[in-house]
Amino acid sequence: MNALVATSRNFKRAARLLSLDSKLEKSLLIPFREIKVECTIPKDDGTLASFVGFRIQHDNARGPMKGGIRYHPEVDPDEVNALAQLMTWKTAVANVPYGGAKGGIGCDPGELSISELERLTRVFTQKIHDLIGVHTDVPAPDMGTNPQTMAWILDEYSKFHGYSPAVVTGKPIDLGGSLGRDAATGRGVLFATEALLKEYGKSITGQRFVIQGFGNVGSWAAQLISESGGKIVAISDVTGAIKNSNGIDIPSLLKHTQENRGVKGFNGGDSIDPASILVEDCDVLIPAALGGVINKFVSSLNRIHTF
Ligand SMILES: NC(=O)c1ccc[n+]([C@@H]2O[C@H](COP(=O)([O-])OP(=O)(O)OC[C@H]3O[C@@H](n4cnc5c(N)ncnc54)[C@H](O)[C@@H]3O)[C@@H](O)[C@H]2O)c1
Repeated sequence: MNALVATSRNFKRAARLLSLDSKLEKSLLIPFREIKVECTIPKDDGTLASFVGFRIQHDNARGPMKGGIRYHPEVDPDEVNALAQLMTWKTAVANVPYGGAKGGIGCDPGELSISELERLTRVFTQKIHDLIGVHTDVPAPDMGTNPQTMAWILDEYSKFHGYSPAVVTGKPIDLGGSLGRDAATGRGVLFATEALLKEYGKSITGQRFVIQGFGNVGSWAAQLISESGGKIVAISDVTGAIKNSNGIDIPSLLKHTQENRGVKGFNGGDSIDPASILVEDCDVLIPAALGGVINKFVSSLNRIHTF
């Protein structure tokens, strides 16, 4: 089932439980605005490359729309649409005065140089600058983007509108970013895991964790869980996967990934097939890469839960 169909199905179920007016339900399913732009940049070798960028603004009834920008080869409008809708529900459930949006560019950031990524981000910002803004729509980092990407958006947007640090969140601290933002989503994973384990009368200490994805969210979740006494027994990223039933040394793995752009080649564990990460034996599985990877629950694996 594609992400938009699944998200809309869940929303319709919730709408029925809330006895939501059918006109309101229909209006909440249709996004406020869908933006699709072509981003052509000169590559470092002098050739031209074109990419498609999206920004879906789902709803602004509760405040400016808010949501990440993803750089990934599989970015598509249906998925961005679903993620934008989820942002609306997320800001509403957390009761913060924002709506929901999401964006992305269909590209492989690992295949682009830093200067190509900068040109791409600046061209994308030029194409959408009049449709985002402090009181309109505030982008943030997501998969494949980071504080540097936000700094480029901030700088490019400010050329048109004057200095506007609040146009993005997740920017570097020196440009007005928030302390703790980098770790925030991974810390949220820790808090959610603690709350979940508590329901089973357990704590993080002594539990065995498997994490798919070792980027911003996965690496912070790994660090914080391991500092809280959890044992991370397997981790994968786009380059490979490693396993160590005695627990992976997270600071060493972080150093390795910074130097080698991925977990592949780490000598603090055995290399395993990345495709098997989701069925590795564990107490808690944390999918911190792409969405939609869990489509079946196999109870014989004796997992506590997945989320
Ligand atoms: N960064 C945030 O604040 C934030 C907030 C909310 C939700 N999220 C969600 O968390 C997830 C991870 O985001 P992030 O910011 O950590 O991204 P990131 O780009 O920093 O890291 C993504 C990680 O996933 C790995 N990966 C990509 N494709 C993979 C694949 N096919 N198999 C295994 N690993 C793969 C990458 O190698 C990398 O380690 C995304 O789904 C994102 O939407 C992130």
